[in-house]
Amino acid sequence: MKKETCILDIKKFNLHINEHHILKNLDLPFYRKKVTAIMGPSGCGKSTLVRSINRLNDAIPGVKMSGNMFLYKKNLLEMNPMLVRRKVGMVFQRPNPFPTMSIYENVLAGYTLNGLKLDKTEKESIVADSLEKAALWDEVKDNLHRKGTFLSGGQQQRLCIARALAMNPKILLLDEPTSALDPKSTARIEELIIELKSKVSIIMVTHNMGQAARISDYTAFLYLGELIEYDSTEVMFDSPKHSRTKDYLKRKFG
Ligand SMILES: Nc1ncnc2c1ncn2[C@@H]1O[C@H](COP(=O)(O)OP(=O)(O)OP(=O)(O)O)[C@@H](O)[C@H]1O
Ligand SMILES: [Mg+2]
Repeated sequence: MKKETCILDIKKFNLHINEHHILKNLDLPFYRKKVTAIMGPSGCGKSTLVRSINRLNDAIPGVKMSGNMFLYKKNLLEMNPMLVRRKVGMVFQRPNPFPTMSIYENVLAGYTLNGLKLDKTEKESIVADSLEKAALWDEVKDNLHRKGTFLSGGQQQRLCIARALAMNPKILLLDEPTSALDPKSTARIEELIIELKSKVSIIMVTHNMGQAARISDYTAFLYLGELIEYDSTEVMFDSPKHSRTKDYLKRKFG
């Protein structure tokens, strides 16, 4: 693998829920301003992994985590979760704009929920800039005070991306961001992800191999909580080394 700058270095990460060993001794570096796809069959731990990076699993009853996740030199697992979520944004499978908030308020929700005060000029500039980055500005600029839930599914997902980008995160986590969308909205989001990687490092869970091949630079393949193979997407797709990866790519299972 080429030498890249590592932005997030996961070291010997284990996650148990009660007696279930869900993520097993993961060693996984993520590279700066690259798109890394996480693939693997249903139940292998993809969502659990990205949720762990965003400290969303802390409250699960019976959860136990060990190992390290270094964002540069700082261990995310030892930071205040609210601070982690300012540095690491997350977008889920189903678009989830806050239903009571306008488009404008949705973009600023990370600030409001963190109790961070902004003046009107700062707010306006963050809203415009984030919606521009999420390729939604032209479609919503005349309706910023309408509810986010009036938008189409694809627009709502771009609003959720804008909401995450508004905090200026180092890393953007996307958990199957297009699986609830039609092909046209999916293509729009794929283009957007490619544009965004000049600004933010992206970790994306996907079941869609075509999508991983089109937009990711690196691919990690998980199976039953273990990292089976990790390489540049080109190498993974053209010449996977492990038989489980080969089978998965041939759609033998998953
Ligand atoms: N809150 C929880 N309590 C108990 N077990 C859980 C919990 N969340 C996830 N698991 C278990 O952890 C394993 C990994 O689940 P996870 O949702 O991370 O898989 P996934 O790879 O994202 O699957 P999919 O492709 O279907 O989204 C599964 O066996 C699941 O049953
Ligand atoms: Mg999942």
